[in-house]
Amino acid sequence: MTSVKPSLRSLPAWKALEAHYAKVRELHLRQLFADDPKRGERLALEAAGLYLDYSKNRVTDETLKLLRQLAEECGLRTRIDAMFSGEKINVTENRAVLHVALRAPKEASIVVDGENVVPQVHAVLDKMAAFADRVRGGDWKGHTGKRIRNVINIGIGGSDLGPVMAYEALKHYTHRWMTLRFVSNVDGTDFAEAVQDLDPAETLFIISSKTFTTLETMTNAHTARDWSLAGLGGDAGAVAKHFVAVSTNAEKVSEFGIDTANMFGFWDWVGGRYSMDSAIGLSTMLAIGHENFRAMLTGFHEMDEHFRTAPFEQNLPALLGLLTVWYTNFFGSETVAILPYEQYLKRFPAYLQQLTMESNGKHVTLAGTKVDYSTGPIYWGEPGTNGQHSFYQLIHQGTRLIPADFIAFVETLNPLGRHHDMLLANVFAQTEALAFGKTFEQVKAEGTPDWLAPHRVFEGNRPSNTILADRLTPQILGKLVALYEHSVFTQGAIWNIDSFDQWGVELGKVLAQRIIPELESKTELELRHDSSTNSLIQRYRKLKK
Ligand code: F6P
Repeated sequence: MTSVKPSLRSLPAWKALEAHYAKVRELHLRQLFADDPKRGERLALEAAGLYLDYSKNRVTDETLKLLRQLAEECGLRTRIDAMFSGEKINVTENRAVLHVALRAPKEASIVVDGENVVPQVHAVLDKMAAFADRVRGGDWKGHTGKRIRNVINIGIGGSDLGPVMAYEALKHYTHRWMTLRFVSNVDGTDFAEAVQDLDPAETLFIISSKTFTTLETMTNAHTARDWSLAGLGGDAGAVAKHFVAVSTNAEKVSEFGIDTANMFGFWDWVGGRYSMDSAIGLSTMLAIGHENFRAMLTGFHEMDEHFRTAPFEQNLPALLGLLTVWYTNFFGSETVAILPYEQYLKRFPAYLQQLTMESNGKHVTLAGTKVDYSTGPIYWGEPGTNGQHSFYQLIHQGTRLIPADFIAFVETLNPLGRHHDMLLANVFAQTEALAFGKTFEQVKAEGTPDWLAPHRVFEGNRPSNTILADRLTPQILGKLVALYEHSVFTQGAIWNIDSFDQWGVELGKVLAQRIIPELESKTELELRHDSSTNSLIQRYRKLKK
C-alpha cells in the first residue's frame, strides 16, 4: 500500500474536476432545480434502510461522474477490498483495520496473520452477553451482596465517546433502574460529580482502555478503586465484584488488580475510534441488553456490505465521502456541520469529531510526503432545533460555505402532540432555506425598505444532505455510524493518507508527562521550556494552594 502513487493533483479526474469547478462554482441550486424539476427525486439514494437526499448539493451529473472517476483513479475499490480482507492498511502501525470483523456474522471468515478472527469476536460477544445478563438480571452481586444498579464506564477518546453516544442514542431501550455514567476527563470534577450520589456497594466500574496505559483513564481508575474500597470497608477483594476491564492489554489489567477472568478483550486491529461495537461497547450492552446490541451489529454489518458491494453510483458512504472531498478541495470549505434532528443523538456530533478528525487530520500521504491539498475538514454540530437559535445565522448569511448533514427520523420514540411534525418541518425548512435563500427582489416585494433589504437577503446555494430513516433503533444506529466510518474511509483513500493512526496526539502527552513533576515538586526546579511555558508553570506553582 505504500507504493508511491502519482500525486492526487496530477490525476486526470482531479484536473478535470478543477476545470469543471471553474465552470460550475457560480451555478445556483435555484437554477439546478429549475432546470431539472425531478432533481429532488433523482438525486436521492436508499440503501440499508437509510434514505439520502443529496439533491441540495452544488453538483451536476458531470460533477458526480468526475468524483466517481476520481474514486476509481485513487483506487478506492482496491482499498475497500484491502480493508475487508484484513490487509495491513494502517501502514504506520503495521496493523490491519478490521472494525468490520466486529460485526461479521458467525459463519464469516476474515483472516489476519493466518488466523480467522471471527470466532474470537463471537467468543467475546458471548462472554459480554453472559456478563450483561448476570448484571441486568441481578445475579452479579456487589461485595456486600447488593445488586448492581450503577455502571460507570471509565475511558477516554474512543473508549468513551462511542459508549456515551450509544448510551444517549439508545436510552429509549434501557432499563431505567440502572444508572449509567461516563468518566473521561482527568479533571477530578468529572469523577467527583459522577459518583457523588452513588452507593459504592451498588456500583460497578468498567475500565475501558485499549492500551490500559492512558493517563486520564488510569488516574480515574485508581481514584475509582480508592473510592470503591473506602466505601466497602477497605477489603481489596471487593475489586473483583466492582471492577471489570475492557482492553487489549491483559498484563496491565492484572497489574491493576482486575482478574483477567473479568476482562473483555479486543485486538490491535480495532482502532479506538472504531471500537464502540467491540467489547468497548460493554456499557452499551449492559444498558440495552445483548439482543439490542446484536441488532446494532447487524445494522453495522448491513452498511458494511452495502459499502463493500454497491457500485459507487449507489454507494451511500462513498457518495458522502466524495461530496466532502468536493467541498473541501474545490470550494475550500473547512468544516462540515452535523445536525441531528433527534434529541437522542445529542452526542453524535461529538462522537463524529473523533471519528473524522483523528482519522483524517493528517498532513502527509501514506508514503510520507507532505500533501499539497487540504485533508480532513472540521466536523461539528448540535442537535436541531437548538442550533437554529444559535449558530445557523452564520450558515445562512455568513461568508463561509458550510456543507451540512441533516439527520432525521420519520417516527419519534416519544410521540407528544404536534412536536414531531414541528421538528421535521424545521428540517425541511432549513434545507430549503439554505438551498434557495431569498433574493433582494423577494425581500423588496415584501415592502422592506431599501436600506434594510440587503440585511434580509439570503443568498442561498448552501449545500446540505438530508439523511432520513424510519425510527432510531439499535440497528439504524449501527447503520448510521458505519455510514460515517466508511465516508471517512473514502475521504482518506482519496487523500492517500493513513486514516487509522493518530500520531498527532503523542507530543502533548509526552510533554504533559514532563510537566507533571514540575508542578508537583516541593523544591524549586530549573525550568527548561520556552519563556511562555516557563512563566505559566511558575505562576501556577506560586498561586496554587
Ligand atoms: O487520543 C488518542 C487515543 O489513542 C485515541 O485514539 C483513543 O481512542 C484514546 O486515546 C484512548 O486510548 P485507550 O483506549 O488506549 O485508553
